Amino acid sequence: IAAQFQLGSLAGRHVVITAGPTREAIDPVRYLTNRSSGKMGYALAEAALDAGAQVTLVSGPVNLSPPPKVRLVAVESALEMHAATLAAAESADVVIGAAAVADYRPQVAAQDKLKKHAGEPMQLTLVENPDIIADVAALPGLRFVVGFAAETQHLEEYAQAKLKLKRLHAIIANNVADGGVFEQDENEVTVFSRDGGTVSFARRGKKQLARGLIQWIAAALAEKPC
Ligand code: CTP
Ligand code: CA
Repeated sequence: IAAQFQLGSLAGRHVVITAGPTREAIDPVRYLTNRSSGKMGYALAEAALDAGAQVTLVSGPVNLSPPPKVRLVAVESALEMHAATLAAAESADVVIGAAAVADYRPQVAAQDKLKKHAGEPMQLTLVENPDIIADVAALPGLRFVVGFAAETQHLEEYAQAKLKLKRLHAIIANNVADGGVFEQDENEVTVFSRDGGTVSFARRGKKQLARGLIQWIAAALAEKPC
């Protein structure tokens, strides 16, 4: 694969990648979050750089160092990620949504630490976060927009539905049924594209997989100019 990897296939392109989880504040000391190591997004950033792109990585909190030469925009909440990604997407040729964005946030983030009321149930009201990748796909202008679909069941059906609903060019579907993806170094995915194409990437290290996916995106971009 390394030998097949086309250096320079994304030369002159700006690639924006969202990565990692978001944190939705409940109060100053607590938050809601998603399981995500950020490894896939960071590996995609590295592969896009290797392919010659200028890369903006909009990242939630992770324990990874960004690849050298990447423009890192560190964010915490989904609202912050939304603003940073839409701003970066203006000049992007490719946007990849690899982040595990929290679908909901607490309606209010308490100013002070919430106190425990012993013996009583606790209720939080959650409101929906904006859909970052769908909003990117709805921006005026041409860019190749790719999402991920992490599913525990009905992988193809749900992934295809997200592809259409969010008006993406392609969706990278992975099966998270056994929790076998999070924190791990390996992954296997299937890419469904808007034109009806399906490509499967067999189980391999996330770095190798990222190179394969970036190569596929570069080829798709070369075919239909965005
Ligand atoms: N995504 C996003 N903003 C959100 C939620 C999701 O940009 N607020 C992106 C993810 O980064 C991913 C894709 O949308 O690229 C699909 O995310 P996923 O959580 O699988 O789908 P949802 O549309 O949120 O649906 P559900 O969680 O109900 O399966
Ligand atoms: Ca979701």
